[in-house]
Amino acid sequence: MNQLESKIDVQSDDFLNNKKSYDKLMSVYRDRLKGILEGVDEKAKERHLKRGKLLVRDRIELLLDKNTPFLELSAMAACDQYENQFPSAGIVTGIGVIHGRECIIVANDATVKGGTYIKETIKKHIRAQEIAMENHLPCIYMVDSGGVFLPEQSKVFPDKYDFGRFFFNQSKMSARGIPQISIVMGSCTAGGAYVPAMSDETIIVRGQGTIFIGGPPLVKAATGEDVSAEELGGAEMHTSISGVADHLAKDDRHAVQICRNIFESMPKVQKYNLERAEVLEPVYPANELYGLAPLDLKKPVDARELIARIVDGSTFQEFKERYAPTIVTGFAKIMGFPVGIIANNGIIFSETSLKAAHFIELCSFRKIPLVFLQNITGFMVGKEYEHKGIARDGAKMVHAVANVQVPKFTVIVGGSFGAGNYAMAGRAYEPRLLFMWPNAKISVMGGEQAAGVLVQVKEQQLQMRGEEFPQEEQDKLKQSILDKYEKEGSAYFSTSRLWDDGIIDPADTRKVLAMGIASSLNKEFGKPDFGVFRM
Ligand code: COA
Repeated sequence: MNQLESKIDVQSDDFLNNKKSYDKLMSVYRDRLKGILEGVDEKAKERHLKRGKLLVRDRIELLLDKNTPFLELSAMAACDQYENQFPSAGIVTGIGVIHGRECIIVANDATVKGGTYIKETIKKHIRAQEIAMENHLPCIYMVDSGGVFLPEQSKVFPDKYDFGRFFFNQSKMSARGIPQISIVMGSCTAGGAYVPAMSDETIIVRGQGTIFIGGPPLVKAATGEDVSAEELGGAEMHTSISGVADHLAKDDRHAVQICRNIFESMPKVQKYNLERAEVLEPVYPANELYGLAPLDLKKPVDARELIARIVDGSTFQEFKERYAPTIVTGFAKIMGFPVGIIANNGIIFSETSLKAAHFIELCSFRKIPLVFLQNITGFMVGKEYEHKGIARDGAKMVHAVANVQVPKFTVIVGGSFGAGNYAMAGRAYEPRLLFMWPNAKISVMGGEQAAGVLVQVKEQQLQMRGEEFPQEEQDKLKQSILDKYEKEGSAYFSTSRLWDDGIIDPADTRKVLAMGIASSLNKEFGKPDFGVFRM
């Protein structure tokens, strides 16, 4: 394979200015993330620790193999919503390794409103189960939750992808042979009681864990019966009388150790044999991405410069280099894993779509995972392109992206606008994981374009009524749209609403992708659904 040669002068004003601005962006990102990971409710933390419980991320650290990474997902969920009272939406999810096996962890944070569920908590829980299903990963639920956050019940209870979906998913996962283990480390009330009840094996902590369909106050109100929480659904009772739980633990540490023992005794699974090469660092350092990451989306960045700082040895076997230059396609390795990379290098034209679709089919037949590096303003518009059938050619790319059977991963490194988001494996196209860089922007079109469209629509409406549209009013409307798109297009707005699996440090891109690829090997890659057809 060829080694990419960077044409960037890392001492140039352009590079240094970009880096300076990006450093500021990174410092905001790191501060925000730190604040979220520390939590906001000191009293709740104190109360939690006094009870002899461990904090949620400490529980996870104990559960995972020493010196292995934890890929935390959507850590900034619910940020800038609910007056920031729900850091990480009160639940920690991610991929970690237990006895050498990648697993999904779903862990309530009881210091966030009693570990209760708002809309984003539900989305995170369901997304984690989805990742477990797509990659055939065992799932560990560390339960410590008061169930639904009652003031928000209408947004979390009855719909298809609301609270009830957890148990539907658990049933489906069980039927597919995906191991599920619950560790009940606190409250587990009402519908939540099905989490441990539907797991393969359940561990419960003495004096802390409770499982009941209705707590003592509800029992009193409904039947007049006086009963303590321990008697109704405590650990001693469930492990000796009801059999709802299987293992009694004396504290959090013991419970986690029992869970690790369960994994130790599980048969090892044969992973999909994706040939792995020796890991090589990129020749160009990953932190140079700060000087290159697109901050001004109007300024083109050669995708090869980004690829050179992400892939092993900066080597890249480019495919169709001379054809349709606004998309870069080619083969590389990430932490030793072979990947096919599709990276935007400008607007998508007809031939761009055909080149990408052709490349997707190659990866599909060669069983090579795909990595999409999104930096796309959209498809080319205009009479000439519509006449040539850009919609038909774009459809081929969308079709190929939707149907490809190999795992695909998406990183939004710049803009993600309009149908370009679809064609480049946006959220709706089920990439196994989708991450954003802090500078990324996402919306149906750019703010300028949206403002232009809306001003024109309004002008036409007023014209039909014979009314004027004074410049001042036009400017006001335009500015309000620009402000809205600026806010709603930010990576933080997206990640708060679970449109992605998290914002990542660009320098971590290769590690994050490698963890995703390693996880995807727990399931056989599907067979291609289409023949190779050149488009
Ligand atoms: N809905 C909304 N808010 C809830 C809640 C719920 N289901 N459960 C707890 N909270 C809130 C509390 O109001 C409190 O908020 P505040 O900090 O703003 O005052 C915070 O979560 C912590 O609750 P608190 O009771 O002080 O903490 P705790 O650690 O002693 O107990 C629980 C936590 C979850 C065991 C306990 O609050 C409880 O039993 N909640 C009700 C559970 C329930 O019946 N759920 C059924 C819903 S399906």
